[in-house]
Amino acid sequence: MSTFNRSATFKLGNRVVRRLGYGAMQLAGRGVFGPPKDHDAALAVLREAVASGVNHIDTADFYGPHVTNQIIREALAPYGDDLVIVTKISARRGADGSWIPALSREELTQAVHDNLRNLGLDVLDVVNLRGMFNVHHPAEGSIEAPLTVLAELQRQGLVRHIGLSNVTPAQIEEGRRICEIVCVQNYYNLAHRGDDALIDDLARQSIAYVPFFPLGGFTPLQSDTLNSVATRLDTTPMAVALAWLLRRSSNILLIPGTSSLAHLRENMTAAALTLSASELRELDEIAH
Ligand SMILES: NC(=O)c1ccc[n+]([C@@H]2O[C@H](COP(=O)([O-])OP(=O)(O)OC[C@H]3O[C@@H](n4cnc5c(N)ncnc54)[C@H](OP(=O)(O)O)[C@@H]3O)[C@@H](O)[C@H]2O)c1
Repeated sequence: MSTFNRSATFKLGNRVVRRLGYGAMQLAGRGVFGPPKDHDAALAVLREAVASGVNHIDTADFYGPHVTNQIIREALAPYGDDLVIVTKISARRGADGSWIPALSREELTQAVHDNLRNLGLDVLDVVNLRGMFNVHHPAEGSIEAPLTVLAELQRQGLVRHIGLSNVTPAQIEEGRRICEIVCVQNYYNLAHRGDDALIDDLARQSIAYVPFFPLGGFTPLQSDTLNSVATRLDTTPMAVALAWLLRRSSNILLIPGTSSLAHLRENMTAAALTLSASELRELDEIAH
């Protein structure tokens, strides 16, 4: 697809990914629990994403649980050589859909094996250890014990690269003393910019920053400024929000989530959007 040629790539460990990827969380059922309402549509979204040039897919075995990984496998296996599937561990799901921290050696090891089995892989490209001191936002606390277990699984050859998610700068520093960290996945978007300094710091160290909720998450971003810029550029607010992230820093990799083919197509156009200096200034004001 021509729009994709303009989207630069970034090196995630020894793998090269296009900066506009896809987040698979929306493919599970309501509340990221159970099967999707339309299984065939979920397969179609994944296949079109890859056909459009996406080679970076974010997932977790606790989406569903298991469901999202199984759909990825059904849609895309055997996987293309350039496809990088990034997963995350440290939680499990209760029977009621609740999110339960799962950070013991046994639970982390089980999670890596669950991902391998459900994705149909012999080795996981990137595994993010997700901070669970507070489920909703990063909170301080040592990550040494669980990260040491993940680093052991890496040495056993089950995991190629390690990243961190929902973490503070201090936890990233602690993590880098234990093993190489190739990416950080935290909550960030046009309206939620708490990680601005961290992004710049990681860019200087060639570590990828992968914002989750790039479109605002379950309640997508709503802003008059965003609407106004989108109207002037003859595009959609969501495409502008993604284009802004691509411009924000060259180490930002995007994983917008959608269960809709129409939204996927819309989001893919972000790579070709050019924002002027004055539009960037206007958009910067949204967070203030
Ligand atoms: N590490 C973590 O703790 C963590 C937490 C959350 C998410 N994640 C990862 O980050 C990825 C992205 O996050 P996310 O999917 O939760 O949030 P998101 O990408 O910010 O937004 C997804 C929401 O926006 C809607 N949407 C997508 N494209 C749209 C468009 N063009 N127009 C209007 N609405 C649109 C989706 O609904 P439709 O399905 O109707 O399009 C969905 O409700 C996830 O897939 C997951 O892989 C990680």
